[in-house]
Amino acid sequence: MCGIVGYIGDRDAYPILVKGLRRLEYRGYDSAGVALVNGSGTLSVYKTKGKVDDLENYCAEKDVSGQVGIAHTRWATHGEPSSRNAHPHYSESKNLAIIHNGIIENYADLKKKLQQKGIPFRSDTDTEVLVQFVEYVQQKKSLDLLTAVQLVLHEVIGAYAIAIVDKRTPDTIIAARKQSPLVVGIGEDEFFLGSDASPIIEYTSRVVYLEDGNIAVMKRGKELQVVNIYNTKLPHEVKTVDISLGQIEKGGYPHFMLKEIFEQPECLTNCMRGRINVEADNVTLSAVIDYKKQLLAARRVIIVACGTSWHAGLIGKQMIENLCRIPVEVEYASEFRYRNPVVGAGDVVIAISQSGETADTLAAVNLSKERGAFIYGICNAIGSSIPRATDTGSYIHVGPEIGVASTKAFTGQVTVLAMLALAIGKERGTVARAEYEKIVKELVSMPAKIEEVLTVNDRVKDLSRTFTYARNFIYLGRGYNYPVALEGALKLKEISYIHAEGYPAAEMKHGPIALIDSDMPVVVIATHNAMYEKVLNNIQEIKARKGRVIALVSKGDETICQIADECIELPDTIECLEPLIASIPLQLLAYHTAVCKGKNVDQPRNLAKSVTVE
Ligand code: M6R
Repeated sequence: MCGIVGYIGDRDAYPILVKGLRRLEYRGYDSAGVALVNGSGTLSVYKTKGKVDDLENYCAEKDVSGQVGIAHTRWATHGEPSSRNAHPHYSESKNLAIIHNGIIENYADLKKKLQQKGIPFRSDTDTEVLVQFVEYVQQKKSLDLLTAVQLVLHEVIGAYAIAIVDKRTPDTIIAARKQSPLVVGIGEDEFFLGSDASPIIEYTSRVVYLEDGNIAVMKRGKELQVVNIYNTKLPHEVKTVDISLGQIEKGGYPHFMLKEIFEQPECLTNCMRGRINVEADNVTLSAVIDYKKQLLAARRVIIVACGTSWHAGLIGKQMIENLCRIPVEVEYASEFRYRNPVVGAGDVVIAISQSGETADTLAAVNLSKERGAFIYGICNAIGSSIPRATDTGSYIHVGPEIGVASTKAFTGQVTVLAMLALAIGKERGTVARAEYEKIVKELVSMPAKIEEVLTVNDRVKDLSRTFTYARNFIYLGRGYNYPVALEGALKLKEISYIHAEGYPAAEMKHGPIALIDSDMPVVVIATHNAMYEKVLNNIQEIKARKGRVIALVSKGDETICQIADECIELPDTIECLEPLIASIPLQLLAYHTAVCKGKNVDQPRNLAKSVTVE
């Protein structure tokens, strides 16, 4: 969703803010803006529709001096993307400026009350209500900024990460968090603020992840203070982040997405490091050791997630059911949280989230926790909200994922789920030693096999040119490869804007087959596994109706290659790990198709990397 950056110290704020916005642009990108307070107590707000580049062009001739500032990239919720609705928002007197990520649910009510008191509004946003309200209470009760913010937050219903400046107290930034992430970076006599650590790590590795209900007071030359709305001082832990700058830059690739696709062998090596002992054919997850009792007592597992993470969950379900013999349900977090689910003691809820900030997944976690379930998180962003809300969990350790289309996080999630299923299955005695060892060995060989699959890149690039004409795609797979079909379809639609549907291959004849004609590309995952013959029949059915088949097959499969229009050969692996191999050409297909169509691969329209509003 929206990205927040802030700086207060002795350096010029503007270049730090703009660089920070670029690092956060993946979160939202329909407009951008900056507020700067300079030494003479002037508060200037510059904002524009478009991307950070547009903001920079807009500011080219402006006075951007000041050593204090806040900045924002927006992903519209209330009010169309426009300069008017872009953040920061001034208060009526222009003494204050605010930036906000989240949704103020009672904004209409608050706005009406403020309008009745004669306060005019300049935008359609929920955010402007906050700044006008702060100014109103400041004036009415002669309050300092912090007290006014605390008073206003008492009245506010919703989710927020905010940062606010007041030109009359130019040595202070106040930031507050409730259900939207916010990180404070601590430098030498300076503070940085970010929606995540990426705008901060260039300057300091010392950070404080704010908790819900925290208000941070950043005063130049003073210690960080964290309080709540009752002005009670709160303890805060300074952590060290170990993300390198290289990890959040493109490293010579034209897009983050391509870099992240090609990083997958290394990412999976990192994901398994210290967890798989190759000599002993053994998987050790510290969370499983520490919470063995709770995990072994599980009568049921419920996986909650959204989007790509939900697809990984569907694969995890099959792994856990096969290896641990525990029933598993996979739920869209957004549905689960609102349907009074039967969940409680004895259930293990696994929350999967790359960002660790998805609002629906976080809400599903909190609901399950309240009802007594044991919560296990599988996340990527270290220190994000979901891992902090869970009882335990395993990070996927694939490094920051910047491209909006999730790629390496998906394979990381599947890898952790495989290790988790193996570790629990072994403890429960539900997986035979030979089977266990076979899967462990195969997991260890995955980085090399993915390296091999990546050599199809040029072939997939050529193939994508053939199919850019298509307005629809169908993706088919069975068993472990059905979620891969869903994931392939999601990748294509989100970045190329081609409509695509994923189906279990056998379901095709119950409806989707009506769509097949000579214009319809059908991607079929048809590797040599237990379902091979059945999927082969499905391919015949498609060809009989003149559909155009792109088949992912096991190396050396001549049968399918003679029938299909296009064949991509994949290295052999065991069935439960096929998703790690088969998903790679589908990521590449989506990527090259989008590039061929001239789309913005890393920042597709309407999407945000981190969905922190429901
Ligand atoms: O950060 P999360 O894994 O919780 O995000 C969930 C989805 O928003 C995310 O996977 C989304 O579907 C991606 N854009 C897919 O590529």
